[in-house]
Amino acid sequence: MLGVCGGIAAYKSVQLARDLTLLGATVDVVLTGAARNFVAPLSFEGVTGRGALTDLFSVEGAALHVTLGREADCVCIAPATADFIARAASGRASDLLTTAVVASGAPVVVAPAMNDGMFAHPRTRANLARLDASPRYHRVGPATGLLAAGEGSGPGRMAEPDGIVDAVGRVLGAGGALSGARVVVTGGPTREPLDPVRYLGNRSSGKMGVALARAAWLRGAEVTLVTGPTAVPVPDGVDVVRVETAREMRDAVLAVAADADAAIFAAAVADYRPGAVQPGKIKRSEAGNSLTVELTANPDIAAEAVARMKAGSVSVGFALETDDLVARAKGKLAAKDFDLIVGNRAGQDGAAFEADTNRVTILGRDLEPRELPLMSKFAVAWEIMDLVEERVGG
Ligand code: CTP
Repeated sequence: MLGVCGGIAAYKSVQLARDLTLLGATVDVVLTGAARNFVAPLSFEGVTGRGALTDLFSVEGAALHVTLGREADCVCIAPATADFIARAASGRASDLLTTAVVASGAPVVVAPAMNDGMFAHPRTRANLARLDASPRYHRVGPATGLLAAGEGSGPGRMAEPDGIVDAVGRVLGAGGALSGARVVVTGGPTREPLDPVRYLGNRSSGKMGVALARAAWLRGAEVTLVTGPTAVPVPDGVDVVRVETAREMRDAVLAVAADADAAIFAAAVADYRPGAVQPGKIKRSEAGNSLTVELTANPDIAAEAVARMKAGSVSVGFALETDDLVARAKGKLAAKDFDLIVGNRAGQDGAAFEADTNRVTILGRDLEPRELPLMSKFAVAWEIMDLVEERVGG
């Protein structure tokens, strides 16, 4: 059930209803009276294919609020105005939306949206604190940024639809074997400095690491993503540690490895770094036409981390290969003591570096090579999490 209250952010709720519907949800939209001033029920009907509801006393029957509440697996209120939050905090049931919320036992995702002054008001803060303290309510946002026209910018802006979809997914996904588990993911490239302005790096975009972190988080895990530089947005609930060099990545991973129930090593770690970082910019006028840089081996992060992980935990490595994929992946599985390894071929279309899609072969100690078709990195991450979930806890 998607509850829409009367705020300017309601225009984004049509997108939200559409995204949830496209993901396979059956979305019943309930608008408050005020919401209808901002967006018409017809807009929601157009994207959900279902009637949008507004009246407590209507032809749908006097017990509509009970049916709606009972049938909902998850309630999402977006935008949640200061008025809705006040009514929800005090358990009021004064219109179709609030009666349905009271009649339902389903978890509620709340996306507050209001002017920054209203958000800062002590009463609003107290009401929100009350919802935050309830295990039933899961808050997403508000974000800080541009508010309605003429109101400048500040905290109070509704979370974007993608973030709200993720929050709903997290609520619906909790309860599996990964729920509450600690999952560590490495992702992205590393950058190894050569001098103050240059580094050695690689073409990894960090997309696979973020997809893995998101998939684990959607299944209810407590996720730490240790990533090299990436422009890919990470869900709010994921703890992100941003690093540059392999040695920084190693320190960040080792700080959390011992407590992890699962670790997935998707980072494209530079195997070597310049042995000496030049204190000043290397100048062509001084170096001349040829320059030799001596490289030193970096630590093997995955191997060190796996050695510290507790019994019953699951480790997953990646192997990027140009030839002999399965044989080499098997070799790395054994050498680094992984439970599973995900092999991908460098240089194939639509896969590996920079792409949104990947084509991988997964194998493990107890798993014969399983070749997956070309699919989105998120879908690959989801498949990997299926295998991790089956194995976590031994
Ligand atoms: N890895 C790591 N630290 C490194 C190198 C690799 O944690 N210094 C991890 C990667 O994240 C991946 C796995 O180890 O999960 C295999 O990485 P890959 O670069 O394919 O293998 P290498 O061990 O570097 O072997 P080679 O260079 O011989 O292919």
